[in-house]
Amino acid sequence: MIQTLHSDNRRLVIVSNRLPVTIQKDDDEWSIRAGAGGLVTALAPVVQKNKGLWIGWPGCTEDAPVEHLLDSLEQEQGYRMVSVPLSEDEVEQYYRGFSNETLWPLFHDLLGNTRFSRQTWQVYRSVNARFAETICCETQEEDFVWIHDYQLLLTGHYLRQKCPKQRAAFFLHIPFPSLDLFRRLPWKQDLLQGLLAYDLVGFQTLRDRRNFVQCVRELVPGVHIDIRRRVTRLTLGERTVVVGHFPISIDFDEFNEGARAQEVAEAAWYLHENLGKRQLMLGIDRLDYTKGIPERFLAFERALEKYPDLQRQISLLQVVVPSRTLVPDYQNLKEVLDGLAGRINARFSHQGWVPIHYVFRSLDRVQLLAHYRSCEIALISPLRDGMNLVAKEYCASSVDGNSVLILSEFAGAADQLGSGALLVNPYDIEATADAIYRAFTMPLEKRQRRMKLLRHQIRRTDVHRWVEWFMGSWPALKRSLSTDAGLV
Ligand code: UDP
Ligand code: G6P
Repeated sequence: MIQTLHSDNRRLVIVSNRLPVTIQKDDDEWSIRAGAGGLVTALAPVVQKNKGLWIGWPGCTEDAPVEHLLDSLEQEQGYRMVSVPLSEDEVEQYYRGFSNETLWPLFHDLLGNTRFSRQTWQVYRSVNARFAETICCETQEEDFVWIHDYQLLLTGHYLRQKCPKQRAAFFLHIPFPSLDLFRRLPWKQDLLQGLLAYDLVGFQTLRDRRNFVQCVRELVPGVHIDIRRRVTRLTLGERTVVVGHFPISIDFDEFNEGARAQEVAEAAWYLHENLGKRQLMLGIDRLDYTKGIPERFLAFERALEKYPDLQRQISLLQVVVPSRTLVPDYQNLKEVLDGLAGRINARFSHQGWVPIHYVFRSLDRVQLLAHYRSCEIALISPLRDGMNLVAKEYCASSVDGNSVLILSEFAGAADQLGSGALLVNPYDIEATADAIYRAFTMPLEKRQRRMKLLRHQIRRTDVHRWVEWFMGSWPALKRSLSTDAGLV
């Protein structure tokens, strides 16, 4: 069921740092295609249905013919896109700097990777204000503005200054840190005040919502807090902000059906055949230090050492998608992984068997599904993650129901998938090695029982439910939204 707004002149306006497109230049020729990933899959049909609007940075340099490229895709997408261009300096300070060297590591509990800089903070504020200006220019008071993720925490605040009557909601895709960590941020009050400018603020998990409410309680005087089961209401003077948790998900049917396609089945067979008659254990991550990839390699090495019967009988297939290559910590991580994979492979490889197959590129849709289908085990062990959609996609694509999911207890997905997955603490190399052995030796009947639970849970709470839950908690929307089947 896709949400629609009652009256024609009310639009849903999605705002995210990146537009849902990929623009690139090959041989002097610019091209544009629809972007991939969870956020796009979840929201594109809703924006489409409402003939809405998507506002964001096109993610390319200023010399690209952005407007022309966006126009050319508009027909196909079924909604309009408006670009917020960023200068090189803004990309450096706002995107690379404050968003990805301050907020990203701090919100993922990695204080050691966090840099604090007044200069990047100032550019972060000015870019957030510019997003608000674009929203003001492009929207009308009746529109519903839904802003996404840590790059735009303050946009609601500037929007309220410029267009006080504009309703706006916010969803944070990454974790919200504990008070103890959040208080290290020199601009903590400004960020909390910024978030309190929205009408509805959504988090991934109950823990994130509680962390946020605790930070507000301790750091923002004069807020009345009314905690209820589904949502918390924060009242500041005349205004009430609704705060809830809404775990994001995937389109279950799309993965379940996609994975059954003939070309996927063939690609999966070919992949497995190439790597021999042994179990394959999958890792798929952006190249990001929050994903725990070095720790995963070490756990796999320990498993091979501790359980020698694993040798020649299992391989780790690790796909690493290049990401944020401008940030030094990301560049260093690539070197660490190259070194570890090389050392472990040199130590254990045997004729016809390589323990770690490590590829550094992104996969197209068929290959992605083929990887999900062909690997008997997935080892998804982030040090911290807002949700982790790969874990859900893996289960939805396990059409035979024979696979085992090993999942970090620090991924948001663990709250929902904990009963069917083998949960691990990725910092505990020994215990993760034991979990690998447990997955490897798990009898078929037990695998199927666990995977059935996982698939049931993901099907029940898929991305369409997520959009419904979120929109159904939006006080202003509640009164004017309908679904195909009736009022929310
Ligand atoms: N993904 C992709 N291409 C790839 C590998 C992964 O588009 O080659 C997608 C994957 O299907 C998933 C998303 O990237 O939807 C990763 O989301 P996740 O929540 O796991 O992690 P994030 O990258 O958002 O931290
Ligand atoms: C995570 C974040 C998103 C971000 C994505 C890719 O999923 O929550 O906001 O867009 O990573 O990162 P990038 O820096 O390439 O946009």
